[in-house]
Amino acid sequence: MKTNYLDSTERSLTVAAELLNKQEIVAFPTETVYGLGADATNEAAVSKIFQAKGRPADNPLIVHVHDPQQITDYVTEIPEIAQQLIDAFMPGPFTIILKSNGTVTETVTAGLDTVAIRIPNHPVAQALLAQANLPLAAPSANLSGKPSPTTAEHVYHDLNGRIAGIIDGGATGVGLESTVVDATGEIPVILRPGGITRSEIENVIGTVELANSLKVTQPKSPGMKYNHYEPDAPLYLIEGDNNFFQEQIRHFQQQGNKVGVIASAPLIDQLHVDISYPCGHREHLSEVAAKLYYALRYFNDTSVDIILAETFPTQGIGEAIMNRLTKAATNHLKQNI
Ligand code: TXA
Ligand code: MG
Repeated sequence: MKTNYLDSTERSLTVAAELLNKQEIVAFPTETVYGLGADATNEAAVSKIFQAKGRPADNPLIVHVHDPQQITDYVTEIPEIAQQLIDAFMPGPFTIILKSNGTVTETVTAGLDTVAIRIPNHPVAQALLAQANLPLAAPSANLSGKPSPTTAEHVYHDLNGRIAGIIDGGATGVGLESTVVDATGEIPVILRPGGITRSEIENVIGTVELANSLKVTQPKSPGMKYNHYEPDAPLYLIEGDNNFFQEQIRHFQQQGNKVGVIASAPLIDQLHVDISYPCGHREHLSEVAAKLYYALRYFNDTSVDIILAETFPTQGIGEAIMNRLTKAATNHLKQNI
């Protein structure tokens, strides 16, 4: 299949909207990561997403709309606490899970009785949703298991030839996916930490729980059980001071490995290593979030055998950063604390 590489002018968005209305799938920028969109009410279109990404069928998709008023079209009810979350965080890097009324096709919800809804706060995503006049089921626009794309080039790398179009809207802002919150119960539950932090949510509704699946092995959000965000080389998390980090670099080098490092300032400036990717400053974790997926993809174009990454405090957006790093590292942790 030829993939149309589109800019974000009105004319290009018209082309993309037409493709979506012909059951084709198109990647588009959001403020978190690039999404791969399909008409959420059309079975044939949605199944193309699973095929193009190699995504397991039991992992449900988020439905994207452009106006909070539209949420009622897809759910049985909006409890009061859910409405507070919607008013506070939508549009934004926030996804709400409510009881589905069955409007979106079963493939989108993977047969669950709930549906995930998000309103992206990005002008291109907003314009596309309005033009296409469709609810768009959209997972991150990467091959399953790979880091989410934060540029159109990342999407091209993974999906060129497998999808009908890519809209290039430049680099995304947040750099990590939306926070997914299940609002079907009495107390909302964070299923995936993301762009909206736990304390921002607590400021609005008082109490929010963290899914057990984020602490133990039994997943509630089906997507949690799969490998995720994996760079080609194995990734190890290094928790300790500068000296310990340097020791670990030496240890892996002595075993004959070419070592890559993902770290922020000031640590990165003090390490001696083969190849490094600096991601912002430790005091500004939003910079680290914005660069994390670049960093994970960067090393795929290098000859490193192993990647060592700094760990971060789990406050604020740090909770989402550590969630993604821990998954990318598939349990490789070297600790000295
Ligand atoms: O920022 C984002 O959320 C991006 C952009 C494109 O909007 N999208 C995204 O989609 O990250 P995806 O498919 O990569 O991740 C969606 C997550 C998965 O972990 C999935 O299991 C979970 O949301 N999810 C979707 N529907 C669900 C449901 N009904 N119940 C529980 N979890 C659900
Ligand atoms: Mg994803």
